[in-house]
Amino acid sequence: MEPIIDVKILKDNPKVRIYLERADKHLEGIGYTEHGLRHATITAIFSQKILRSLGYPQDLVRLAGVAGFLHDIGNVCGRVNHGQSGAIIAHSILSELGMPSMEIVGIMEAIGNHEEECGQPTSEIAAALILADKADVHRSRVRTTRFINFDIHDRVNYAAERSNVHVSKKNRTISLLIKINTEISQVMEYFEIFLSRMIICRKAAKVLSCEFELIINGNKLL
Ligand SMILES: [Fe+2]
Ligand SMILES: [Fe+2]
Repeated sequence: MEPIIDVKILKDNPKVRIYLERADKHLEGIGYTEHGLRHATITAIFSQKILRSLGYPQDLVRLAGVAGFLHDIGNVCGRVNHGQSGAIIAHSILSELGMPSMEIVGIMEAIGNHEEECGQPTSEIAAALILADKADVHRSRVRTTRFINFDIHDRVNYAAERSNVHVSKKNRTISLLIKINTEISQVMEYFEIFLSRMIICRKAAKVLSCEFELIINGNKLL
């Protein structure tokens, strides 16, 4: 009987923790926002929430959680193409844990396609992961407020006081809700850096037969 691998098992796995910590440390070194255990956990929770809310089977929900938790692990090898390197790393970790190949391939495909630069969502797991990942915009990801006057990513993330993803099975909508403090960053700045992300979110929602909505400070902008 093959073991059932879920987020809880990965969270308690020392090897996964080392990889995640090291990946985050690398991104800290090159000036990126937090991409460690916190971001992995939130992405896993959102990925599962999206598929669960749309009524997908429990096994698919579990696999979306696994993909969400491991999606940024490839940053340990460098930021460029971290989706692809992350897919290979996830393969090695999950194979070692005894996950069936049929499940591993779905996770590899999702992780390898989660970045807007080259990702193409073609499966439910990949679509959920993309929407979940892009939904985690929050001030707690900013490592220092020293640069918020100079760095637009830090400023926009710092201005985001709340972010969540809302799914309506009935209306077939997946909404990204963000509360931005406009004294720190204007909504326009959000668009400036997130436009390409919004495009991939729209594609991802389509894979789940839904429309994507962006709601900032209560106003529907997309
Ligand atoms: Fe990523
Ligand atoms: Fe991410």
